[in-house]
Amino acid sequence: ASGCKIGPSILNSDLASLGAECLRMLDSGADYLHLDVMDGHFVPNITFGHPVVESLRKQLGQDPFFDMHMMVSRPEQWVKPMAVAGANQYTFHLEATENPGALIKDIRENGMKVGLAIKPGTTVEYLAPWANQIDMALVMTVEPGFGGQKFMEDMMPKVHWLRTQFPSLDIEVDGGVGPDTIHKCAEAGANMIVSGSAIMRSDDPRSVINLLRNVCSE
Ligand code: DX5
Ligand code: ZN
Repeated sequence: ASGCKIGPSILNSDLASLGAECLRMLDSGADYLHLDVMDGHFVPNITFGHPVVESLRKQLGQDPFFDMHMMVSRPEQWVKPMAVAGANQYTFHLEATENPGALIKDIRENGMKVGLAIKPGTTVEYLAPWANQIDMALVMTVEPGFGGQKFMEDMMPKVHWLRTQFPSLDIEVDGGVGPDTIHKCAEAGANMIVSGSAIMRSDDPRSVINLLRNVCSE
């Protein structure tokens, strides 16, 4: 896919220095920031919520694009607070809501872009009916909850199918994506690449980001 964007996930960074870690990623050439919100209910882990996003926005200024990956039950609850805090995109899980249509509408009315995520166990047919109303589909390539897990290659047919059916849709992959797995993602048609530990654990995040972007944009 041409023009892939790289969004580091800061989940596995030094969370006591979250602002500095985000700056480090932006200085290293990140195209956007993928911010993982977990509520300890939808997934067995807790991270942070809109107050932290508000502080990040103040520190980083208006430019950086915040893609909020909302791994929460009742995602309806946080649309307005996240918009007010300065989120640019609200990516919710299809598994977490009974009424995706209403939620999509609410996210738009609050001035954010709409991302729709599916867990590994959710087939792409459930996402398809909403594909024309969203900006981005997120195909999870690990069970959501933790960074540093193994990439699930068997999710690639979902990406490929979506790319074929919806040529202009942004398609994001998230989980275990790094220099060893980017080829599969690019081949399948993903164009928004989340990478956490592969970038965070590197001594040279800039070169990892460049490598991912170059492979993906080939
Ligand atoms: C997992 C999160 C991911 C995670 C990615 O639930 O949604 O964004 O931080 O980290 P890596 O790239 O290490 O799998
Ligand atoms: Zn994520």
